[in-house]
Amino acid sequence: MGLAVLTMKASVIEMFLVLLVTGIHSNKEMTTKMKRPKLTVPQINCDIKARKIINPEFVVKCPAGCQDPRYHVYGTDVYASYSSVCAAAVHSGVLDNSGGKVLVRKVAGQSGYKGSYSNGVQSLSLPRWRESFIVSEGKPQKGVTYPSALTYSSAKSPAAKAGETTKAYQKPSVPGPTTQPVTLMQVPGTTPMEGNHTTLPKPSPSAGSATSSSRPQPLGHRSRELDLWSTTTYTSSPHSPGANPAGETDLWKPGSVLLDAGFVPEEELSTHPLDPESQGDPNCKVDLSFLIDGSASIGKRRFRIQKQFLADIAQALDIGPAGPLMGVVQYGDNPATQFNLKTHMNSRDLKAAIERIPQRGGLSNVGRAISFVTKSFFSKAGGNRASAPNVAVVMVDGWPTDKVEEASRLARESGINIFFITIEGAVENEKQYVMEPNFASKAACRTNSFYSLSVPSWFSLHKTVQPLVKRVCDSDQLACSKTCLNSADVGFVIDGSSSVGTGNFRTVLQFVANLSKEFEISDTDTRIGAVQYTYEQRLEFGFDTYSTKPDILNAIRRVGYWSGGTSTGAAIRYALEQLFKKSKPNKRKLMILITDGRSYDDIRIPAMAAHNKGVITYAIGVAWAAQDELEVLATHPAKDHAFFVDEFDNLYTLAPKVIQNICTEFNSRPRH
Ligand SMILES: *[C@@H]1O[C@H](CO)[C@@H](O)[C@H](O)[C@H]1NC(C)=O
Ligand SMILES: *[C@@H]1O[C@H](CO)[C@@H](O)[C@H](O)[C@H]1NC(C)=O
Repeated sequence: MGLAVLTMKASVIEMFLVLLVTGIHSNKEMTTKMKRPKLTVPQINCDIKARKIINPEFVVKCPAGCQDPRYHVYGTDVYASYSSVCAAAVHSGVLDNSGGKVLVRKVAGQSGYKGSYSNGVQSLSLPRWRESFIVSEGKPQKGVTYPSALTYSSAKSPAAKAGETTKAYQKPSVPGPTTQPVTLMQVPGTTPMEGNHTTLPKPSPSAGSATSSSRPQPLGHRSRELDLWSTTTYTSSPHSPGANPAGETDLWKPGSVLLDAGFVPEEELSTHPLDPESQGDPNCKVDLSFLIDGSASIGKRRFRIQKQFLADIAQALDIGPAGPLMGVVQYGDNPATQFNLKTHMNSRDLKAAIERIPQRGGLSNVGRAISFVTKSFFSKAGGNRASAPNVAVVMVDGWPTDKVEEASRLARESGINIFFITIEGAVENEKQYVMEPNFASKAACRTNSFYSLSVPSWFSLHKTVQPLVKRVCDSDQLACSKTCLNSADVGFVIDGSSSVGTGNFRTVLQFVANLSKEFEISDTDTRIGAVQYTYEQRLEFGFDTYSTKPDILNAIRRVGYWSGGTSTGAAIRYALEQLFKKSKPNKRKLMILITDGRSYDDIRIPAMAAHNKGVITYAIGVAWAAQDELEVLATHPAKDHAFFVDEFDNLYTLAPKVIQNICTEFNSRPRH
């Protein structure tokens, strides 16, 4: 391969030298012999690909405006004949965007066309193509008669034109003073597969037509080798290269690629019989949104692999109203919801619906799609359940065409756990074309790679099914979107001693309710528990007793005043045992202790035990509470965790301060 490229390079240089020399010659010729018959130069449009023109060497006139990303170009200096002739001429610098004449010479196909950005055109890479061309200034060479009309290959009726396809052409791939070598060449575009998208390296030229920015655009992302071959041709008709009636597919041996990559045709993937009555896996109660890549550059084949992946996920997750629910958003230029969370509430229906999703085409505007999902997807009307975490799985082929980091941050802050699955992401030398080269690590959860999966090849995507299912179902880990208000287990420890009095006790409960209101409460977000103490202690309710805010507020209101002594030390021990021992490992443990006097028992050892167990303690003292005790009770530094007011009626002033300090501390400490 390396050798082949070298040889190729050498012959390219040689060609240019020859062209240069002959160019000078013909110039002289033109100036000395003034009168020559005027050349009729045929015109073509920007979208005409070299392979459509059968002539091995010709001069054409290009219109203005071919410097547009919708006209795809593959290669640099030597272009695959799948490229637009005129856009390649702009890329090479022979023409500018105002059009003009260009000399085109067909040369042999090659391996490893390299994409590059040049003269306002981003060309793409292509692993192989059966035929190439080079472009130079549209000046005729001496002794060469250029066709005044071009011969086009007909894609429409291969049978009718069959006779024409066996003509021999001069192959100018080894140019010299005399272009001698004659090779039998197959006419492109006469395969029975022509006109069928499965043979095209790129889908419709509409891709990227919306953009005409002159900065390097990662349009088309990368070579699309998968689309170079058609599955049907290969399995049924083996043939020798060069004499292949299937035309341009002949260079490529996808059969071996298929097997090497362990790719299993989707039709053969097993489907388990499903229980139609399934309520879903209760151990995986999540609301899932899959953002799938429907951009033109992904190609038909990869789009199918992507759908198969989704179907496999739908199969592996036991979808149902009591378990995971799943919706799909497809993005291209703009996102669109294919179906929401409650459209298909079992795995079988979901799989069938996934199979029917048509590809939208367009760019890969991932950021726009994430914003869309944040705003519109997880709505109650769309089936979003308050009790289930929101998860968005973003599939990215290559890299996005817009910015995603900010959109992702907003999504995370609104409570969405974002996973990225990047397939065939940018390799080192492609990163220059990516707006945010490390978008996946920045857009997903910042702490670890739990939320970001990088898959080297579409062929190996199926291996990601199980790891992904495991991760989206691990609700204790779904903490990417943690905030100070949605990720704590908050335990109130309330002094019910006689000195408080009934009226003030109501005020204390109101204070507890006011603090609780500030949190986002559910069994996966913040949970609230409460203990009342005198000499004794009692659990009013635990973290898992209630899971909605109204229930919590009601429960607080119903707490009955106990009246008795004040054993704060014992109360802390009790709270650790009865409340915080049952806290979830990924939750922040917050204890908010409210007292109106000095404790009868020792508080030092229990307070230290709380601190050692990672329970962040806020001490709130009223009236006769002892400042020195509050400071011992509170987590260090005491000024942020100990509060005092002289009377119960002023308690309300503390609620905003306590919440603010909880959030300040949350933001200043590592999340995990
Ligand atoms: C493309 O080829 C496939 C397989 O031969 C066929 O089923 C399909 O109808 C064709 N599509 C077009 C647009 O010709
Ligand atoms: C609780 O909040 C209400 C409404 O904001 C307020 O009127 C009241 O004073 C607060 N009470 C306490 C004790 O925080």
